[in-house]
Amino acid sequence: MNNTHGLMPETSHDERSRLAFIVDLKGLLDIGASAANAELLAERVMPKVAGQDDKTLLQRARSEMARQVPYQHWMTLMRSAQEMMWHAVGNCVDRQYEDLEARAEGLAADRAVRTVPDFTVPPYLTAVDTHLMPGSYYTQRSDTDIRQGAVFDLAAAIYHRGRNGNELNDIRGHTIVSHLWERFPELEPENLLELGCTVGHSTVAVARYFADAELHAVDIGLPVLRYAQARARSLGVDIHFAQENAETLSYPDESFDVVYSSVMLHETSNSALPNIMAECHRVLRPGGVVIHLEVPVRYAEMPLADQLRADYETYYNNEPFWRGACTADLVGALRTAGFVDVAEGYQQAVTAASRDSHGFSSERGPVYRCWYIVSGRKP
Ligand SMILES: C[S@@+](CC[C@H](N)C(=O)[O-])C[C@H]1O[C@@H](n2cnc3c(N)ncnc32)[C@H](O)[C@@H]1O
Repeated sequence: MNNTHGLMPETSHDERSRLAFIVDLKGLLDIGASAANAELLAERVMPKVAGQDDKTLLQRARSEMARQVPYQHWMTLMRSAQEMMWHAVGNCVDRQYEDLEARAEGLAADRAVRTVPDFTVPPYLTAVDTHLMPGSYYTQRSDTDIRQGAVFDLAAAIYHRGRNGNELNDIRGHTIVSHLWERFPELEPENLLELGCTVGHSTVAVARYFADAELHAVDIGLPVLRYAQARARSLGVDIHFAQENAETLSYPDESFDVVYSSVMLHETSNSALPNIMAECHRVLRPGGVVIHLEVPVRYAEMPLADQLRADYETYYNNEPFWRGACTADLVGALRTAGFVDVAEGYQQAVTAASRDSHGFSSERGPVYRCWYIVSGRKP
């Protein structure tokens, strides 16, 4: 199978060189600096903040770290590298935009993204440009615009640095199916729904395992959905994409056998979480399965240095609900919504799902080697 698709924006020699620089810089800042930050925390910051009230330890450590010059340099470079990435990717997409839009229209001319009347993007997604992506997931200049989809797709290929399935970015999709088969092997879904699909990175992977089933996928952003529709077509997969809010879905009760999301919850909000869980329950048939995959970042299980690293996303990378989602009681949220057999843990990341998988456990591993999953069944 090819590890790219027919709609991926092309890159010139100079663009590749610029993007490679950004990838290396991000790698250096992510991996190279984490040991230095941990040392700074242990040697200079902990002596000042330890021994006081534990409940505010993280907050005090973060304030004290922010006073340290090496940490200031790290934060500045982190933010600059992220902004540089969006800028470089945006320029690359813009210089070939007309061609990309024409290709997208050609690929998906016979299937439009479904919309619901009077749709409103939820406030937690309009309040900031999520992860500093200018225009976020929903900004469009025309009713055929796909720019934000193309930008997100190319940026994701860089941001993950090859660790999520290269240009297809589909490892999370394979991992969700692996989880489904491991925990609910008896289920033969006839239709599935993905919440927060963006450009369909996980959706296409899931669809390929269930060729006889119908796959629906929703997001709030029309330009990412239009791009997703054409991208899926270029990969030979037919998916029903719709602009919907996961908190207030328009699907009738008991429409699906499986409802899942992949790294969506951390881009919602505290008040959205129970609404989303309740909607998952409503649209599932009795016996149906819900799966939410998230980043393997659970503050309660992490050392302080890792919690600080995670806080960077919340405070400086326009991911305001990162910490909220990573500290929320997601098991409790699913039970409150009416689910049973609820379990949480870490699913080993796979490039292909297998029915013999034994990759779900309570043991947290590094990001990209595993994903946090909470799942359950509607009685
Ligand atoms: C990080 S992206 C998910 C990527 C994708 N699921 C994957 O696995 O590659 C999060 C997506 O969730 C969407 N989202 C957030 N809140 C939503 C909501 N209430 N309803 C529908 N989509 C939502 C965002 O618009 C964004 O496209």
